[in-house]
Amino acid sequence: MHIGPVELKSPLLLAPIAGYCDLPFRILCREMGGVGIAYTDLLNSRALLAGAEKSIKLAQTNGLDQPVGMQLYGNAQDPLPEAAIWAIDHGARVIDINMGCPVDKVAKKNGGSLLLRDCPSTLQLVDKIITAVDRHARGRVPVTAKIRLGWDDDSIVGPSLARDLESAGIAAVTVHGRTTVQRFSGQANWPAIGEVVAAVRSIPVIGNGDVTQPEHVAEMMKVTGCQGVMIGRGSLRTPWIFERARVLLETGTVGPEPSFNDKCRMIIRHIELLERYADHQYGIRTMQQRISRYGKTMGHMKPLKEVIRTANDFDTMRQELRRWILPHREHVSILSRVEPALQETV
Ligand SMILES: Cc1cc2nc3c(=O)[nH]c(=O)nc-3n(C[C@H](O)[C@H](O)[C@H](O)COP(=O)(O)O)c2cc1C
Repeated sequence: MHIGPVELKSPLLLAPIAGYCDLPFRILCREMGGVGIAYTDLLNSRALLAGAEKSIKLAQTNGLDQPVGMQLYGNAQDPLPEAAIWAIDHGARVIDINMGCPVDKVAKKNGGSLLLRDCPSTLQLVDKIITAVDRHARGRVPVTAKIRLGWDDDSIVGPSLARDLESAGIAAVTVHGRTTVQRFSGQANWPAIGEVVAAVRSIPVIGNGDVTQPEHVAEMMKVTGCQGVMIGRGSLRTPWIFERARVLLETGTVGPEPSFNDKCRMIIRHIELLERYADHQYGIRTMQQRISRYGKTMGHMKPLKEVIRTANDFDTMRQELRRWILPHREHVSILSRVEPALQETV
């Protein structure tokens, strides 16, 4: 799959999830395999240009995080074209414009989902961003948009807006199959994503919403005809979902789930990445919170979770994880349900 001139190794995209898809997590998902491109969390254009520490940290990327899309939000009064240029100069291979965030802080300031309510102004804004990006990057960096179906059921704009965005030069559109007022409730409407696919001429449409199993990727592609699938919340619990889905798309059979031991090793790697690329307290807090998501796929591991949830240093976390990795458990998933103390005797 291509987004403009950018070639993706797979049609699977890691979604921006504010507060979650930071640099360590993006690298982790890429290392697990199957990720075609990953996005930063949404970035405030003004804060970025003012050099606000938090925004600069959110935009952090490096050679292990390629290709990366940087997602910007704002409205016609915001310096989005300038922020796009900043993002290109700081490693963005793709510029994405957020048109779907329903959170008050963003939408009340006319950014995010509010862009769905006034499509003519949105198209003018997009035109300015694309002109600035093209002038700066000479066609190397495509601009994409991430939309919802519309503000509410009475104002579905997905198909017409996607067509107009394509005419304006947008290189790909991601559609989260919900309206803004739905926020995250109910089910994503995959057939409605299919209507967006049918509305565009040739740009890729990326389907998004409620893909939590590798099989859902193939299903979504079948129902909607979308070329790519973006996965958000599902990846927080199973960062290996991309690789399993990639194998499914390539071979027709879903890729193997990592063993219990491999999951422990993956968590150790997540800790290393947090240690290297995040502030200490942020890293500790992140792992204390993430462990319960990872744990949901690992059978009985309450004592391990408890240690990680209460540890205040990475070494304690790592040591406990290593203690749970046992040689005879490499491929024996059933043993993952047994506590380490018992396993020593198995
Ligand atoms: C906590 C949270 C934060 C999110 N932050 C962003 C964001 O920064 N930018 C964005 O475009 N979408 C954001 N989203 C939406 C996701 O990218 C995605 O569209 C949505 O979760 C549906 O996909 P999923 O069912 O695979 O999670 C966020 C979603 C959640 C739950």
